[in-house]
Order: sequence, then C-alpha cells, then structure tokens
Amino acid sequence: MSLLEELSCSCRRARARHPYVWQRLADKLHKALAFLLLVTTMVFLLGLAAGVVHTGSNIHRLHVGIGRHHSDAHELHLSLGSSEHQQHRLKGPLQYDDEFVLQVIRSKYLVAPSPSDDPYHLESTQKYEDFLSLVSWVFLSSRIKAVLGPKRGGFFVEAGALDGQFLSNTLPLERELGWTGLLVEANSRSYQELQKRNRKAWLSPACLSPSNYPQELILNQLEMKHTRKEDQYPWIARGSSHLQSTAGHDQDVMLTQYHTTYASVQCFPLASMLLALNTSHVDLLSLDVEGSEPAILRSMPWSQFTVSVLLVEHHGEKHGRDMQFHNFLASQGFMMYDHLTDGEGVSDYVFLSNDYWKVNKEKIEKRAVGLPKMKKEAIASAR
Ligand SMILES: *[C@@H]1O[C@H](CO)[C@@H](O)[C@H](O)[C@H]1NC(C)=O
Repeated sequence: MSLLEELSCSCRRARARHPYVWQRLADKLHKALAFLLLVTTMVFLLGLAAGVVHTGSNIHRLHVGIGRHHSDAHELHLSLGSSEHQQHRLKGPLQYDDEFVLQVIRSKYLVAPSPSDDPYHLESTQKYEDFLSLVSWVFLSSRIKAVLGPKRGGFFVEAGALDGQFLSNTLPLERELGWTGLLVEANSRSYQELQKRNRKAWLSPACLSPSNYPQELILNQLEMKHTRKEDQYPWIARGSSHLQSTAGHDQDVMLTQYHTTYASVQCFPLASMLLALNTSHVDLLSLDVEGSEPAILRSMPWSQFTVSVLLVEHHGEKHGRDMQFHNFLASQGFMMYDHLTDGEGVSDYVFLSNDYWKVNKEKIEKRAVGLPKMKKEAIASAR
C-alpha cells in the first residue's frame, strides 16, 4: 500500500469512527467534571469540619464564606428561591392599581365576551324560570327598567353572577339593549355553568375583595344536600355561598342546613378589575355576594370611579335601612331610590348617583308611575 493510499484509508476509518470520538470525549469530560465536583465537595466538607469555611443563610439568601463565622465581606452568596419576591412581600399588600396585579387579572382572571353571533345557551324549563316570580327579582327588574329606561350599550358589573341566568339582573340588558360588562363568580360550580351561557360580557372566576388589596380568602360553597330531579334547581343554595370572613350568624346556621365545601379563592378589589378592563365608569353595579357588599363598597377609591345605578343586597337588619351604610353611600354621592326588606332581614337597595338622578329625575319619575308597590307588602309579610 502506498503512503497516499494508507493515509486516505486511515482517513476513511477516522471518518467512520467520527461519532464515537465525540462520544468518548464527552464521556471523559463528564468523568472529569464528576471528579472535580467530588474533590470540591470533599475539600469543602473538610474545610467545614476544620472551621475554615462556614455556611448559613440570612434573610437575603444562602451563603458560603471563609472563616468560622459570618462576616459580610468575602462571602459567596447563593440565591436559592425567589428572595426578591419575599422581600417584596414584606412591604405589605399589593396596591389595587399595582401594574403586576392588573397584569395577573388580565392574563388569568378575565375571559373575553362570547362573540355577538354565538347564540345564548339558556335554560328554558318552567321550573327553572320560577325565579321570574320571586318578589325580590320582580322588585329589582322593575326598578332597573324605571331608572335606566331604554338606554342602549351601557356597561354593567354583576357579582355574584351565579350561572348568568338565574336571578340575573343584567341578562335582560345585554339581550334587549346591547349592554356588555363584567360578570364575577367565585363559586367554581356556578362559574362552570356561567361559561356555558355565551354571555356577551367579560367573565371572571375571582371574587371581589372586601379590602382595597388582593387577597386569598375562604369561600363557603353551599349545595343542596339531596338533589332529586323534581327538586328545585340548585341555584338558591349555590347563591348562598359566601366569604367566610364576612359571614354573619344566619349564614353560620346555613352551613349546617346545606352541604358545604370550603374553597380557597383569589379576590381582587373591584377597582383593580375595572382598571384591568380600562374602565372608570359603570352604568349598573349589581352586588349580591352574601355579606361582603358593604366592605367592597367602603374599600372602593370613589374619587377615580363613577357608578350611575347601584343595586346592593344587604344582610342583617330587621326593619328597613341600615343608616350607617346609607350615610356612607350618601357621603360618596349616592341617594337611596328604593328598597325592599324580606322576612329574614335581607334588603335589596337601589341607589342612584346624585349626578345621574339630577339629569334623569323627570324621566325616571314618569316611568315609575305604574310600578308595583312592593315595599309595603314585603314589609308587612316580614312582620
Ligand atoms: C386595556 O389596556 C391595556 C394597555 O393599553 C391593553 O393591553 C388591554 O388589552 C386593554 N384591555 C381591554 C379589555 O380593553
């Protein structure tokens, strides 16, 4: 074999072996690194035993240093875990308008309205629609018509929205007058149903925070104990779900009457939800969240937001108005338009902003002429 032939031959062989060469090299490197790690660990352990180096952690992070004790100079600091995040938490709750809060809401707690040409998916059995004759629903729906009239294209917020149909104050506005808005429902079972309805409004599975910062709270979720087919729909029980931290005595009693589960829910201030939607005005705010309504309204930064019509359920008084609550809303520029109290001391209030009342007074009074006079009947039945 000539030299040339020999060279080209070994070259071919080398080429054939090519992948194995790299693999062997990687193997060697691997072993070398493992050896280095072992040696370093042993030196480190020996050093530790001899008191030449030390380890420890302070509030910032883990550290390794020379010498028996900690001194901030010449120390190696290892950031394990998100120390910055923990530092941030020491500063207190996040503000309602914190950009991070708004980002989280936009990316995780808001679902866009269903397209306008998607048909609604509504229940239409007689039994389901029985709610249409409930005193409280007749009261609110007639008052909404009186105060809003034929106004088109408004923006609502409804919380709790339940399934988006049962006792919904906002569905008629959406269907008949082209409104949109935000439906908030923290009970996961109700929310599942809400998603099926194809409402033309934003949906949120969060809860409204009873304070001006986001927080996680316990939701007492109520269900009927036995659900037979012929029983009434589960919505009355589900609609009694409430935040544990704002529960009153009557609600503690309910926990024993219904099947109750406890869920941890993320709550955001109403103001954060509105900022996340780039909205500062709400035409109709409907709050029916079984007890945290006053706290939600008290923690609202009212100088930044306006609400024309406010429907609010209010627990815990026997004879009509809670004057403290009433005075608080008066101080924020609202006037009481009407209210209804049932036998259990639960009131439905209708408030109007003074500005809205001033502009629309005559039209509202004209539309209210034929309204059913329910206030007296309800108060009589409560006695
Ligand atoms: C609100 O504004 C932000 C920033 O300009 C934008 O990213 C977001 O899509 C807007 N959201 C809505 C619901 O309009």
